[in-house]
Amino acid sequence: SNYDPKLRTGYHFQPPKHWINDPNGPMYYNGVYHLFYQYNPKGAVWGNIVWAHSVSTDLINWLAVEPAIHPTEPFDINGCWSGSATILPGNRPVILYTGVDTLSRQVQNIAFPKNLSDPYLRKWVKPKYNPLIQPVGGINASSFRDPTTAWYGRDGRWRLVIGSKRGMRGEAILYRSRDFKRWVKAKHALHTAGGTGMWECPDFYPVSIDGKQGLDTSEYGEGVKHVFKVSLDLTRYEYYTVGTYDQEKDQYVPDGASPDGNTGLRYDYGNFYASKTFYDAAGKRRILWGWANESDSVTDDNSKGWAGIQVIPRAVWLDKEGKQLVQWPVEEIETLRGKQIQIKHKIVKSGKFFEVKGIQTAQADVEVIFDVKSLEKAEPFDPSWSTNPQGLCGIKGGEVKGGVGPFGLFVLASSKLEERTAVFFRVFRSDDKHVVLMCNDPTRSSYKSNLYKPTFAGFVDVDIAKNSKISLRTLIDHSVVESFGENGKTCITSRVYPSLAVGSNVHLFVFNNGAEDIEMSQLKGWEMKNPRMNDGEI
Ligand code: FRU
Repeated sequence: SNYDPKLRTGYHFQPPKHWINDPNGPMYYNGVYHLFYQYNPKGAVWGNIVWAHSVSTDLINWLAVEPAIHPTEPFDINGCWSGSATILPGNRPVILYTGVDTLSRQVQNIAFPKNLSDPYLRKWVKPKYNPLIQPVGGINASSFRDPTTAWYGRDGRWRLVIGSKRGMRGEAILYRSRDFKRWVKAKHALHTAGGTGMWECPDFYPVSIDGKQGLDTSEYGEGVKHVFKVSLDLTRYEYYTVGTYDQEKDQYVPDGASPDGNTGLRYDYGNFYASKTFYDAAGKRRILWGWANESDSVTDDNSKGWAGIQVIPRAVWLDKEGKQLVQWPVEEIETLRGKQIQIKHKIVKSGKFFEVKGIQTAQADVEVIFDVKSLEKAEPFDPSWSTNPQGLCGIKGGEVKGGVGPFGLFVLASSKLEERTAVFFRVFRSDDKHVVLMCNDPTRSSYKSNLYKPTFAGFVDVDIAKNSKISLRTLIDHSVVESFGENGKTCITSRVYPSLAVGSNVHLFVFNNGAEDIEMSQLKGWEMKNPRMNDGEI
């Protein structure tokens, strides 16, 4: 294998070895954050799935404890798949998860901590009355999984949804319960949408219409909107909508600001899937976790001995205009910042680039603000591009000269730029307004072959003519490029595997391939330290 061990991440969540996928049951309980995740204890490919378990007091340093749930009973003997945690009244956490039973049916199970006085909640018990919910009454038994965190209604009943499909119609099947034990299927789904295929890992939660503060999952009423997210098995992307939840009717209706389907809003326009949020009562915020798969070959995954990471946890809240969410890495991540550099007011002339020196950038956090002085040369925008930013960036990548942009960063670059991943903006003119595209172009990221390296992109909802400034933050971590455009309005995570730009041979550049000069008003960069990353038992 031509795999270089230096490509392993330094501060992204990862076990020491083997395969991981979905984050499961994240929660905050008695001063400790818990993250469970889908894990293969035997290898670097999907299979033998258990709920691995890690604990942390700061979301940054992690201690691995023993897997919480593994196949032992007829109701989960063929798999312990994704699910969520709910904190019941009296501060009692429970887990709901999908078990694959002896008949290979997907059923929903419950598990309780064995000993609430163990600060790490290491042992979990599955009561004999499992499975809690079965695929009966016409439900497709192989498309019935990933229960959400439950929420409590004003009528004294708990609710949860389970991802499913009917033909090509994605469905969030709703169940209700008074005692959290006997669950009754509601007549109508909470929400469905045609043509999407299976809805994996649904997530449903309230957001405040005003401010960054998070809401506990059962919040409802004045000043509250709801967010509904699904992961689409067919396309391997997620989308979410912002809308209104009517608890009497138990129906969720998207506002329509973004479409309900694969062209809708995404948390992340890159390699990001099966995400889940939880309410952090300590920080009074809602935190999002998502899984980033490898983009490397399975052969290389096997020789590495590991595959998959969780992205940096992000605080998530509703944007001021109420049409989309905003995400930002939890502030705790800043405790890893070490050596810093800063550059101010530098013109990046048309067609030029320069190197940012003074820190190592294989493992770094970089924040930059660009000032677009003139929009005169912006390229015309073809309206047919508006539902396909990724396709647009595929034809107008980092090398394709433009009017205003592409300008941005070359990260994980080799000294002579033979290898580099371009993260950039490009501004178009559309009648009376401007359209800003954010893009992650890994097409020149590596000399290695067999890599999956599509160009990822999303639009950024910013009034560039009025603001003139646009910001970019990129968390660089050896084989991870996790970027936040315009303070977290548009996010893109990408996995890249350079062959030259590795370890101390990694460089960072600022570039401008547009006809118009750009001012870089500020750049701050920090080397990132290594947290404790799952060096306990597992
Ligand atoms: C999503 C998913 C879930 C399932 C789990 C199995 O990545 O397919 O729908 O519960 O992974 O590992």
